[in-house]
Amino acid sequence: MNSFTFHNPTKLIFGENETNKLTEELLHVGKNILLVYGGGSIKRNGLYDRVISQLQDRNSMIVELAGVEPNPRLSTVKKGIELCQNHNIDFILAVGGGSVIDATKAIAVGATNEADIWDIITKKSKAESALPFGTVLTLAATGSEMNANSVITNWETKEKIGWSSPYNFPLFSILDPVNTLSVPEDQTVYGIVDMMSHVLEAYFHHTENTPLQDRICESILQTTIEVGPELVRNLDNLNYRETILYCGTMALNGMTSMGTRGDWATHNIEHAVSAIYDIPHAGGLAILFPHWLRYTLEERIERHVQLATRVFQVDPTGKSDLEIALKGIEKLSSFWTILGAPNRLAHYDIDESQIEKMAELATATGHLGNFKALNKEDVVKILTSAL
Ligand code: NZQ
Ligand code: ZN
Repeated sequence: MNSFTFHNPTKLIFGENETNKLTEELLHVGKNILLVYGGGSIKRNGLYDRVISQLQDRNSMIVELAGVEPNPRLSTVKKGIELCQNHNIDFILAVGGGSVIDATKAIAVGATNEADIWDIITKKSKAESALPFGTVLTLAATGSEMNANSVITNWETKEKIGWSSPYNFPLFSILDPVNTLSVPEDQTVYGIVDMMSHVLEAYFHHTENTPLQDRICESILQTTIEVGPELVRNLDNLNYRETILYCGTMALNGMTSMGTRGDWATHNIEHAVSAIYDIPHAGGLAILFPHWLRYTLEERIERHVQLATRVFQVDPTGKSDLEIALKGIEKLSSFWTILGAPNRLAHYDIDESQIEKMAELATATGHLGNFKALNKEDVVKILTSAL
């Protein structure tokens, strides 16, 4: 494996009704608080009231930024930065899914740096600091609650960019499965697809001697394959919610990729698709990942074979490596389809008209894919096969 340094400072508070621990965590932060949330799910499920009452117990001065969009937009981030500056905010509390948390990360950095936040996101400038922030997660999917990543869409330029900074780690994240009970079926499915995709991105690498990394990835995949369908059939089962919530965090908090370097091309291609069509992130992943897998079959086929046999229980007897790998991809694809995820871009009315543009966006930085390097023509082929 490669040498590595692992540092993840986020305090994770996990379990049923642990939302009540918010009061305790607020003891360590300033009183001027920006509360960031999405389109209203937290008002409908009662979480907003529970959070507000804990903030009031602390005599906090509360300023609200509501309406963070799925695929959060730069314009909303800028509003948040302005609120921080106008109200002397010293702590941000994000209550929501990955979009709310990602927007919060950009607001936290934008509020304390002279450089324009879009320049930081597009890597023209570097973040030097950030306001501290914490999260109350409401949706199991992205892992944003315990990582330093953020993905922001500039709707004017049609760019959706992933960025990262050492200041992007939440101070704490409260993961209470009760807060995920109201997640509807489609978002629950997307969440499962997203976390599995994060593990798959990590799994496909060229590093030798990674037996534990492989087993960590495989165990997260196996758990989601076992529990995911049960959860989708029983959305109000707290045990299933809890397990999937834990899987989502473990899938992208750095644990799967210590000493390895995953691929991540599929994520970048998906970001280009949702920059133009504003589709749910994991809807795009469910469509694209099987095609990326087929496109990379000849790149270290033993990784594909290992995934097929160990995770998808493909019986290798009498089959060539290629047949085993293809069977594994077929099983992954049908697992997602049966779960309720889409499998063709046509599902979102996406046709060939913008394929060149999406391929251009995905390859704009000139580097795409660590397992298999892809150029614009490769991306055109993958997108075309997914139509
Ligand atoms: O906005 P509200 O009303 O809260 O509704 C949301 C939204 O409509 C709803 N929802 C969330 N919690 C709920 C709930 N509905 C009912 N009950 C609850 N408890 O779900 C919808 C989707 O929410 P969103 O936050 O957009 O979903 P997700 O967590 O999947 O985040 C997606 C965003 O994260 C980025 C994606 O690209 C996308 O922009 N990603 C971030 C990553 C990271 N920071 O590490 C990695 C990922 O690969 C991903 O790219
Ligand atoms: Zn993702």
